[in-house]
Amino acid sequence: MTLKKTKIVKALSSEGVGSELTVTGWVRTKRESKGGFSFIEINDGSCLTNLQVIASDHLTNYQDEVSKIQTGCSIKVEGTLVASPAKGQRVELKAEQIEVLGWADQDVYPLQKKRHSFEFLRTIAHLRPRTNTFGAVARVRNALSMAIHAFFQERGFVYIHTPIITGSDCEGAGAMFKVTTFDLANVPLADGRPDSSRDFFGGPAYLTVSGQLEAEVYALSLGDVYTFGPTFRAENSNTPRHLAEFWMVEPEMAFCDLDGNVEIAVAFLKSVFTYVLEHCQEDMGFFNRFIDPGIIETLEKLASQDFQKLTYTDAVEILSKDAGTFEFPIDWGSDIQAEHERYLCEKIFQKPVVLTDYPKKIKPFYMKVNEDGRTVRAMDVLVPRIGEIIGGSQREDDYHTLLERMKETGIDPRVYWWYLELRKFGTTPHSGFGLGFERLVQFVTGMANIRDVIPFPRTPGNASF
Ligand code: 4AD
Ligand code: MG
Repeated sequence: MTLKKTKIVKALSSEGVGSELTVTGWVRTKRESKGGFSFIEINDGSCLTNLQVIASDHLTNYQDEVSKIQTGCSIKVEGTLVASPAKGQRVELKAEQIEVLGWADQDVYPLQKKRHSFEFLRTIAHLRPRTNTFGAVARVRNALSMAIHAFFQERGFVYIHTPIITGSDCEGAGAMFKVTTFDLANVPLADGRPDSSRDFFGGPAYLTVSGQLEAEVYALSLGDVYTFGPTFRAENSNTPRHLAEFWMVEPEMAFCDLDGNVEIAVAFLKSVFTYVLEHCQEDMGFFNRFIDPGIIETLEKLASQDFQKLTYTDAVEILSKDAGTFEFPIDWGSDIQAEHERYLCEKIFQKPVVLTDYPKKIKPFYMKVNEDGRTVRAMDVLVPRIGEIIGGSQREDDYHTLLERMKETGIDPRVYWWYLELRKFGTTPHSGFGLGFERLVQFVTGMANIRDVIPFPRTPGNASF
């Protein structure tokens, strides 16, 4: 069935009062009025606002069908767009014909008028996009993807598809999912350990934690590149900011140092905030009203304000003064926790913070070592409410230093021979970063839990639905 139909977003914004059109959608509510009319609110996902359909009891199937329509049914309406006498809407659709395409039994349809908790909605991930909140999240997520591509494409970055299955552990954190076709009840062993040489790929294979290493290959040929794809982390982190499967945006720039990297990261965030404010006014109005009052103003401010730049060492000094307020200790050399990140953004600076030059001990092997020998050219971008949204660095471009760093951190140089060779043939300063896409969606919408900004969240104990 191909239907020649008008999207509700178009019908609502059209000046076409008097025009004949066909719309399709799902019924949100229906009420009957005294004068022989029903008012049916339908939504087709194209925008937040429902279209009101006026159904008169003169319709031939009124008794048999239209009067039995309830929340959740899918319908097709042919009618005339008329100016609406009701407050808050410009137009409504006077139905000439209504066809019920799918019924929804009210005794079991879980989405009724009342507001449901986000926890409950997670258990019905197949129906939650029919709610106002999840429809709006999906549209904003879509717009943010467009904003990301627009930013990089306008600047001549080449979009690279890096592999999902990989033999390397980019972050060196060991939080990787293994990929195997072994029968787990009968794994071939060599010296008592799984013999991966007999596995599908002839060696160990994992789901990637980051596309960075492969992006570096292309940056060192094409100049400026970016990846945007799914990444996987097998950490047992049950927080409102962690997923086991999340999307990451990773630009990588040749002939670019840490300062250049920071500059691009800040311009990038500002540009996507501006894009969403311009392109998602209705949905952002919804988030501003119901989810996070003030979020529009916050984003407007961020789009025009400078970010605070600060070294790790200076941040530790500031945080140590208030050490008593934190759950985790803060000393030079210790990892900065989310509580510290938020404290810097929310309490100290009241704006996003770019933290640079972390101790090398707490950062991966590929970051360029500073002259002090103790710190690396790392940068994390921290934002209020979320903490770290971007992690990146200038990369170690010196062959011998990189080799040493691999040995120090227990990374086998034989596995990364190709990565090392990039430092042998035409090496150059280069930098990049990774933006956690769901954290961005969370930040922009004000949604409290990362599980509610991805269609089907994968978290410890949950991958089926
Ligand atoms: O800081 P991370 O681990 O950096 C990298 O993976 C680098 N290879 C990126 C690069 O330089 N190309 O991760 C980058 C971002 C974090 O700042 C965070 O926003 C997000 O990815 N992130 C997660 N988001 C959701 N769930 C998780 N478990 C995440 N782990 C990291
Ligand atoms: Mg990080």
